[in-house]
Order: sequence, then structure tokens, then C-alpha cells
Amino acid sequence: MAKTRASFVCQSCGAVAPRWQGRCDACGAWNSLAEEGFASGIGARAALGAAKGRIFTLSDLDTPTEPMPRLTSGIDELDRVTGGGFVPGSVLLLGGEPGIGKSTLLIQACAALARQRRRVVYISGEEAVDQVRLRAQRLALGAAAIELAAETKVEDIIATLHQGACPALLVIDSIQTMWTELVDAVPGTVTQVRAAAQALIRYAKTTGATVILVGHVTKDGQIAGPRVVEHMVDAVISFEGEGGRDFRILRALKNRFGPTDEIGLFEMTGRGLAEVGNPSALFLSGRDLEAPGTAVFAGIEGTRPLLVEIQALAAPSSLPTPRRATVGFDSNRLAMIIAVLETRAGVRLGQHDIYLNVAGGLKVSEPAADLAAAAALVSSVTGHSLPKGSVFFGEIGLSGQIRPVAHSLPRLKEAAKLGFTRALVPASAQEPQDSNESRSRTADLDRESQADTAPEIRADICTDVASLVATVAAPARREVRRG
Ligand code: TYD
Ligand code: MG
Repeated sequence: MAKTRASFVCQSCGAVAPRWQGRCDACGAWNSLAEEGFASGIGARAALGAAKGRIFTLSDLDTPTEPMPRLTSGIDELDRVTGGGFVPGSVLLLGGEPGIGKSTLLIQACAALARQRRRVVYISGEEAVDQVRLRAQRLALGAAAIELAAETKVEDIIATLHQGACPALLVIDSIQTMWTELVDAVPGTVTQVRAAAQALIRYAKTTGATVILVGHVTKDGQIAGPRVVEHMVDAVISFEGEGGRDFRILRALKNRFGPTDEIGLFEMTGRGLAEVGNPSALFLSGRDLEAPGTAVFAGIEGTRPLLVEIQALAAPSSLPTPRRATVGFDSNRLAMIIAVLETRAGVRLGQHDIYLNVAGGLKVSEPAADLAAAAALVSSVTGHSLPKGSVFFGEIGLSGQIRPVAHSLPRLKEAAKLGFTRALVPASAQEPQDSNESRSRTADLDRESQADTAPEIRADICTDVASLVATVAAPARREVRRG
């Protein structure tokens, strides 16, 4: 008989140590190690007793594959993030802070699928059935044929589900409350979360049900419990929002069946989450776009254009090393833009504290945002507003040149649609080569745009940062030089 070896597992990072110690070597957490029987867990029993394995057939890459059927919820913003609907047999992990609206989103998704006459099961480990039902009634979804239960034991859940038809969608809210009797640990610990997730993943793979696991998020934004759960599931989706605001961003962090650069936008209303039809308008609305230090960036999020406001503040600093802080923007890129503005255009920023903020809680990762960030900086330091009704995009090179970016046309069209009249753009030679994958996916974006007539917006070409400073802050340039 195989020897059962005890090992100690860190409850915060999942690292395994051979003996107990006060501090985890891997993540540095104190008192986080808990004893775990090594031979316990799913599959362990088979491993102990099995002398002979089952023979299976190997296949080759040539075998024709059916296109993956998708289960579309009809909630476009959700389907966009999952890559066109849920894949049967896949497991998704939905993470987000408490109160952000995970349960609300999922009950709405369940109702949408139930309306298509699919069997959906919602297991709540946190709330009583009445609470879930009350929420559904508040959302006017009381009539939806969703099967509810408040359960936490995985074996019971799976046994119950094996009765009757296999559900198309199973929601587990949340994975941290689930436990299995296969392991001897408290619910919520790494060991339990991992074992429970494993059992549910196996259920999904064997039955073809789509399983969504809700995951709590720790203070620093990580999905609590073992990172291994993130590796085990097919997709990790995070639901985010900015404190005090009503809109929410759904973002795929990992997706085995789709892209990870798409975002879904929702607004929390008195009657649940509503899809945001015109995201650009949302991110720009109600703000003073003419204040100095504000530039509008015509960006691309996934496969759709999105206008975002970039705000900069450059204030004279009394510190020996001025502060540089960014929200939603890469701080290394900001440092580069500052250096290029100083050396190539003579804009003195060395004695300024600099803050850069992407409004609305969005994260901008496109290099195409460089020009808008630079324009906002120049505008802030000179105190002059940018020309009315203008948008910006373009990548800044170390030489000070503005380099072309992909998808100029959809960016211009979106800006024109929202009433912008002027754009400062790079001299668009050839569109730079995107990676193959993103090019084929976003090719439609350009094709769609080309099919229509040219947008009614004046596109002024900006060749380098010096000409940016000249055109954007023409009256202010002398001051900059003098200061
Ligand atoms: P919930 O889905 O319970 O969040 P999570 O499961 O992520 O913890 O959402 C709770 C919050 O959403 C709560 O603060 C109230 C708010 N809310 C609305 O504003 N409108 C609604 O229709 C619903 C159902 C909730
Ligand atoms: Mg909840």
C-alpha cells in the first residue's frame, strides 16, 4: 500500500512544504501553513489501488472538429467577453469585490438562458434561497424557470444534478463556501477550494454543462484562494467598478475559448445591471472636456472603438524628486513620454509633480494613447486648453516621432459620431502589422468602417512631439520655453 505522507500547504499561495514552519517560503505569509494528507483528494484513491489503467485511443491533429457550439445568453456585453457565448463543458471563474454585482449579473444571465428553455441551476452558498428569490423578483425575473438551492457540499450538489436532465448552466456562488468531504479542511481554505473546484470542473467536463464559479477577491484585487483555481478553469473573468459610480466593467483575464482584450460595460440601475449601449458617451459624459490638462483619446478596446478622457496635472513640486503617479495608465510609458517631451520638444517637466488619470476607471494599455497623454500634459503645464472638439491618437517613439497605429478609420468614425470635429493623428503610412490573431479578429472592424463613407472629421497629421506642442499649445509655447 502506498504510504500516506502528510504535507503542509500554504493557505494563501498554495505552496507545499514538507514540514510545518511559521512563515511560508514562497509568499512570505505568516502562520499560513496547514497540514494536509498528501494522498487525499480526488483521484487519490484510484492512484492507490489501480494496478492497470484503462486503454484509450490517441487521435491526430487532422481529425475534423465540429465548430464549438456556443450558449449565448443574449446579454451582448456578457457574450462579448466570453468570446461569443459560453462553451458547453467549460468552467468560468467570475471574480469581483463584494457588492459589485456578481450575483446580480449571474441571476440575470440565468434568467436569459432560462427564457431560452434551458435548464439552469443556481446554487448559493452565501445567501438563503429567499434572498436570491427576492433579488430575482426585484429584477422582475421572478417568472424565470431558474432552479435554486442553498447548498455548500459538493457531493450533494453533484448527486442532485445527476437526477434529471443535465443543466446547460450551473452557477456556484461562491467557490469559497463550497466543501467536499474528500479533504479534511475548513471551507474557504486553499485545500477545500481547490478540491471543490476540481470536483465541479470534472462535473462540467463529463456532462457538458457550463459551470460558473464565483470567486471572492482580496483587498489587493486577487481572486482569493489558490492561484491554482485560476489555472484549472477555462476562463477567468473579473467584474470591476469604481467606488461611487454606477458603471461596471467585465473583463476577461484569461480565456481558453476567446480573446482577453474585450470588455463588457454595464450600469447598475435600480432594476439590475443594464448594458451600456454607447460606451464612449458614458465615459465622456458630464465632464468638462475643455479644462486644461484634459485630452480625449480615440482608443480601441478589443474589437470596438472607445473614446476615453485622459487627464493630466503638472504642478510645480517642492520635493527633491517630483512625484509621478498614474491611474489606469502604465507609469513606465508616462516616464518615457515625459522624457521625450523634455528632450525633443523642450517642455520642462523636471520640476513638476505629474499625475495622469484615465477617467472612468478604465485601463488604457494601447501605445496609441501616448499622443493623448502628451497632449494632456502639455495642456496642463501651459494652462491652455486643447482645441475644442478634438481627439488624439498615435504612438510616440523615443526619437519624438509620432508613429502610426492600427485602425485609424474606426477611431475617427467613432469620434465623428460623438460630435468631435478634429483629430490629431500620426502620418498614417501603412498600418503597422498586428499580431496575426488580433489582425484577423479586428479585420472586420476596418472592413466595416471602410464600407461606409469617410467620417466627417478633420484629421490633422502630427509628425513629432515638437509639432504637437506647436499645434496644440501654439499661444503657450513661448511661455514653456521661457519658463
Ligand atoms: P450583488 O449582486 O449582491 O453583489 P455581489 O454578489 O458581487 O456581492 O449586488 C449587490 C449590490 O448591488 C448592492 O449594493 C445593491 C446593488 N443593486 C442595485 O443597485 N440594483 C439592483 O437591482 C440590485 C439587485 C442590486
Ligand atoms: Mg453575491
